[in-house]
Amino acid sequence: MAEPFYITTAISYPNGKPHIGHAYEAIAADVIARFQRQMGREVRFQTGTDEHGLKMAQKARDLGITPAQLASEMSQHFIDMCDGLNVSYDVFLRTTEPRHHTASQALWQRMEANGDLYLDRYEGWYSVRDEAYYDESELVAGEEGEKLSPQGTPVEWTVEESWFFRLSAYQDKLIALLETPGFLRPESRRNEMLAFVKAGLRDLSVSRTSFDWGVKVPGSDNHVMYVWVDALTNYLTGLGFPDETGDYSKFWPADLHLIGKDIVRFHTIYWPAFLMSAGLPVPAQVFGHGFLLNRGQKESKSLGNVTDPMALAGQFGVDALRYFLMREVAFGQDGSYSPEAIVTRCNAELANSFGNLAQRSLSMIFKNLDGKLADFTPAEVDIALLNDVKDVCSVQLPRSFAALEFSDGLDAWMRVIFACNQYVDEQAPWTLKKTDPERMRAVLQTLFMAVRDLAIAIRPVTPQAADKLLDQMGIPGDQRRFSDLSDSEWFERLSTSGFELAQPVGVFPRLELPAEDA
Ligand code: MF3
Repeated sequence: MAEPFYITTAISYPNGKPHIGHAYEAIAADVIARFQRQMGREVRFQTGTDEHGLKMAQKARDLGITPAQLASEMSQHFIDMCDGLNVSYDVFLRTTEPRHHTASQALWQRMEANGDLYLDRYEGWYSVRDEAYYDESELVAGEEGEKLSPQGTPVEWTVEESWFFRLSAYQDKLIALLETPGFLRPESRRNEMLAFVKAGLRDLSVSRTSFDWGVKVPGSDNHVMYVWVDALTNYLTGLGFPDETGDYSKFWPADLHLIGKDIVRFHTIYWPAFLMSAGLPVPAQVFGHGFLLNRGQKESKSLGNVTDPMALAGQFGVDALRYFLMREVAFGQDGSYSPEAIVTRCNAELANSFGNLAQRSLSMIFKNLDGKLADFTPAEVDIALLNDVKDVCSVQLPRSFAALEFSDGLDAWMRVIFACNQYVDEQAPWTLKKTDPERMRAVLQTLFMAVRDLAIAIRPVTPQAADKLLDQMGIPGDQRRFSDLSDSEWFERLSTSGFELAQPVGVFPRLELPAEDA
């Protein structure tokens, strides 16, 4: 039985169209999901939209439409983005779905039954942009001396009747959790969270009475839940909670919540405390990725540098964009992107290195061997190369990807491709054609074997191109797992099956810089 693996992205506020940060998170989560599937795990991959709260209500009011209309219209853009970027989610969850209201109310009732909810009055600061409460001591001064949240967003003084969650009761348990190795990554984020908890936790306001766009608090009809209470519950809703049999019993607790670094507090303090209160297990790992900067700058409407991720994908191709994002930035840190950087990176590595290796190897097999593979005795250099390739594809890259160190894994992949290209130049199969055709066959078929391994290894990142290549090479669709890399019989099976390579077509085109960026 395959071991289950449950991965989630944050669910996005559909108050506007998706931006590059949404694409980055969805792509990274998809690479992980595809990688784990290819490792043989039974993966559940969930994403979605976070449709309640004041921010949504205010945006809809500004547009003169209902929050439900806004949510439906914008949510579709997020679904289209995921589909367009080959994001292989199993569940796209919208928090306005009735089953999500049911799940959120069930979680609430458990926290209440545990004695952790009480009615009081909230007086304090609230940022609508962050949908977050802040303590006076956390605020910073803006340019005109106005008070801003630590994220630099406006805050408003809020006074209203509210339900409170006894967060203060969970201090010790949260410290122990945060100190658990691997719970919060990258580790650099841990100290900040620990300091926040150790400074003493105030109870958290978990309901609002001043507007009604949210999940109703059970038994308290004039209250809606604080949007983060219902939002976080999405991770349970998608598994059928409060039914604890089915998917919930298989996939909960989550193996990984992948989120942006700005919402680590909600995921490593509030969320585990809610779960502990409800008597449910906490997620195994929360990973806070960094931000993507546009030529080193944050994108904003006022700077006019907001990029539509689908336009980038259209310009350069989905696989190229995916590869660039996973390769360029050390996962967990902030990164920068620009059309030049995408073109430079993808041309050097995908088109010129791997693409060229695959294309020239397959072309020579097509031309010089009539596309037919046959039994051969590899020389020592051939075996040495194949061992290096195998070590990268079945050990180094999977080890790095399992640790979410994508750029390291891809770096190893790239280095062994250099070794393959060097091998081609040294062996010069084109000169062997007349002098030693048998040796030429050995070299070309060694390359065929190397390309197959390299293509299987890169599938999680560039699924379309890798599969197009493997299709041409006659590698069956069900033999593209990491475990298939240790199959020592595949070449013999393929060469005796009557397979004939057709004229190969390149799968990693050279990219051009669009005129306006050149
Ligand atoms: N909508 C929130 C944001 O964009 C993220 C919610 S993630 C979940 O910042 F935890 F609530 F699921």
